[in-house]
Amino acid sequence: MKTSSSSHGLHLPGSSLCTPYLLLVPLGLLAVLLVLPSLGSSNARSGDLGVLCRGADAYSSNRGGGGYAVVASGADEAKEAPPRPDVARVDVRFVFCNVTDPVDAALLALEIKRHGDVLVLNCTENMNDGKTHEYLSSVPRIFASTPYDYVMKTDDDTYLRVAALAEELRTKPRDDVYLGHGFAVGDDPMQFMHGMGYVVSWDVAQWVSTNQEILRYNDTHGPEDLLVGKWLNIGKRGKNRYSLKPRMYDLDWFMDNFQPDTVAVHMLKDNKRWAATFRYFNVTAGLQPSNLYHLP
Ligand SMILES: *[C@@H]1O[C@H](CO)[C@@H](O)[C@H](O)[C@H]1NC(C)=O
Ligand SMILES: *[C@@H]1O[C@H](CO)[C@@H](O)[C@H](O)[C@H]1NC(C)=O
Ligand SMILES: *[C@@H]1O[C@H](CO)[C@@H](O)[C@H](O)[C@H]1NC(C)=O
Ligand SMILES: *[C@@H]1O[C@H](CO)[C@@H](O)[C@H](O)[C@H]1NC(C)=O
Repeated sequence: MKTSSSSHGLHLPGSSLCTPYLLLVPLGLLAVLLVLPSLGSSNARSGDLGVLCRGADAYSSNRGGGGYAVVASGADEAKEAPPRPDVARVDVRFVFCNVTDPVDAALLALEIKRHGDVLVLNCTENMNDGKTHEYLSSVPRIFASTPYDYVMKTDDDTYLRVAALAEELRTKPRDDVYLGHGFAVGDDPMQFMHGMGYVVSWDVAQWVSTNQEILRYNDTHGPEDLLVGKWLNIGKRGKNRYSLKPRMYDLDWFMDNFQPDTVAVHMLKDNKRWAATFRYFNVTAGLQPSNLYHLP
């Protein structure tokens, strides 16, 4: 969710940006950038949040093999929407390191032209060798003139219910926040947030982006989620720490542990698991009958 210059949340009119597509890129990192109207304002309605397909309260799809797919909003469209002080603005972007394969580049160019929801960072594609650091430190620079309230990293095998997340954040501070599925280590119940998806407030991302120690100590190689927690713990940042466990969880082998109040469900490694997720959350419910198709 992104601030407008007036610092109001912006509402994107229900758009039809729901085209899943395929990109063969090895790793998934999905950016979610959030701006929430000030505390105490009225609730976001789930159908009203920026990135969403009409009727779906969150959407992100994966086509096997590490594909990327998304629903997202382009900044340009957002500018045309009138400010809505009661509605959170959410921008979802697919995040890549340098795209070198010409086929990937063509698909990505198409995606950018159609949805404007891509961010390409200056790095070589990786998962646990600094991509997250590059992401968290690039975003505050790239969007310096229009800062968000929160920056999120999530995986492309995570189904994120954006409205539920926004609702959760609405009552949280806007600074020094680190929120996700807390991972306990020793006595610390939330030493770091699981990589399925975690949120930091803008100031925390800014701190990461300007902290030279992380790079000096070459502290970007290793499990990305654990490392983010380590940087913040050493730097005493992200003290407003919230674990949304059990509302953020891994889908189990039998696909029978869905919960109605889910914020994020992870481990959607194939289309069967995505389909089960869409069914459970009624994403495809209410499809209009038509003589153009018949579906089981
Ligand atoms: C991209 O990264 C390379 C290597 O880390 C660096 O030399 C170069 O200056 C960077 N380019 C930009 C535009 O930041
Ligand atoms: C990524 O691509 C840019 C532009 O082609 C180049 O300047 C940069 O050095 C590349 N960075 C890395 C880390 O390969
Ligand atoms: C940083 O760590 C990586 C992985 O452990 C290693 O390959 C690299 O050489 C290190 N770089 C520096 C500058 O120490
Ligand atoms: C899906 O729709 C059914 C029927 O309306 C409802 O009972 C159920 O609670 C919905 N599921 C979720 C997760 O909202």
